Amino acid sequence: MRTLLTSKWMKAVVFIACLMPLAGLGWRALHNGLTANPIEFITHATGDWTLRLLLVTLAITPFRKILALPDLIRFRRMLGLFAFFYGSLHFTTYIWLDKFFDLAEMWKDVSKRPYITIGFLAFTLLIPLAVTSTAGWIRRLGGRRWQILHRAIYISAVAGVIHYYWLVKSAVIRPLTYGAIVAVLLLWRLADRYWPRSGALRNPSLRSEPQKVQA
Ligand code: HEM
Repeated sequence: MRTLLTSKWMKAVVFIACLMPLAGLGWRALHNGLTANPIEFITHATGDWTLRLLLVTLAITPFRKILALPDLIRFRRMLGLFAFFYGSLHFTTYIWLDKFFDLAEMWKDVSKRPYITIGFLAFTLLIPLAVTSTAGWIRRLGGRRWQILHRAIYISAVAGVIHYYWLVKSAVIRPLTYGAIVAVLLLWRLADRYWPRSGALRNPSLRSEPQKVQA
């Protein structure tokens, strides 16, 4: 497993896998498969993938510790950046295709529709994380401060789930499922912080430190 995770191809495989939802949208666009309401379809697909990739990013630390696979850290930055990428597409769909850059209309939405307000918060919080995801920023901020800043991903994930929950009318099962996953991931972190397993303490490669960014 270690050999697989550290192979230079694995990053390319994860990268291509993360591009698949976008390729799927492109394929549908070329084959008239975006349904009768393409804007809604794209908004939903990009929103779904933003949230899924946020959860996968949050799951890296628990998985690397529980499965004793420290090399999983190699993929965390890429997954987080892809979450931001799909979030940007989701947001762009809203401001461009849905609102045609009508600032007054958008302001009305942000101030009057709570699910838009909280979606906005979820996305805004991801911007500094994407900007500071490089090795240079880890150095500049220092590991401790970088880690504190990057805890904003927890708030973004919770806000993303609330955004989803508030926008659905009756089909609450999916947002609640995402919510349950976020809750488990956050509770695991709390437990790991206050009751760390002795194995993780002994093994420095499993401590929660900012990852070394590979080129
Ligand atoms: C991290 C940030 C965000 C996440 C994780 C997220 C996630 C989602 C999800 C999961 C959906 C529902 C998809 C489905 O029904 O299958 C959705 C829908 C939507 N989101 Fe977001 N979103 C985010 C930010 C935003 C922002 C910033 C805006 C606009 C300012 C926005 C506007 C919308 C709209 C308009 C819909 C469709 C609502 C409807 O169909 O009634 N989202 N989002």
